[in-house]
Amino acid sequence: MRYFIGNWKMFGVPKSINILRKINSFCSKDKNRKKYRVIITPPYTLIETYSKYFQNKRIAIGSQNCYQKDQFSSNTAAVSPFMIKNVGAKFTLVGHSDNRAEGDTDKMLKDKVSYALKNNLKVVFCIGENKLEKKRKKTFAVLKNQLKKVLDKKFNQNNIIVAYEPIWSIGTGKIPSSVELKKTIIHIKKQLKKIFRKKKTLPVLYGGSVDGNNVKMFKEIREIDGFLIGGASKSSKKFIDIIKNYYR
Ligand code: PGA
Repeated sequence: MRYFIGNWKMFGVPKSINILRKINSFCSKDKNRKKYRVIITPPYTLIETYSKYFQNKRIAIGSQNCYQKDQFSSNTAAVSPFMIKNVGAKFTLVGHSDNRAEGDTDKMLKDKVSYALKNNLKVVFCIGENKLEKKRKKTFAVLKNQLKKVLDKKFNQNNIIVAYEPIWSIGTGKIPSSVELKKTIIHIKKQLKKIFRKKKTLPVLYGGSVDGNNVKMFKEIREIDGFLIGGASKSSKKFIDIIKNYYR
């Protein structure tokens, strides 16, 4: 199974649903449709209406983040996994570099993953090194640490997907070389096997400037189980092109 996950970030109003209706209609006719899942993470404000609309259709809705507590509490503007689940989301991203940069710590991320799983949300856990760490050849150590500090053997690994997003690649048009990326994905899968002490590994996605052109290179790396797509997910044509070119 492959995953094409669109992360809308701070984009979208109710009528933006038209973008997703086009993606949905492509996916419902696509001959490859059984081979992949499409998940879109709009802002919190749109989760309920979009989830209702796409119930029993080809697109699953998720949230971009969640608060590190279970149900209700006195935290102004916070939205808990319980609240997200109750408006129809099936997934949540955790640990996107935007949110790490705003102060999400490993401890907070661990609580987010734990409460999201408890509320039956599937978690897309994001990791990635920054430019300086890459330059200093610290990538493998950074990724290992990010995984180890947050993922716990006790978590149900069937409900976790990992997304590798090098920070220097997000929104920049820069992507890792194919040799480098293959090695990194293999490294991540190895670390995951160690953490969960299981033979079967979790799906590992790539994210960072994915588009309809470079996806042809990424598809050669069979260790990549799918993509987390930012910019290109705000256009139905660009998003559909990624899927089309992946299976071409
Ligand atoms: P991008 O964003 O595709 O625009 O680089 C990816 C992400 O932040 O998830």
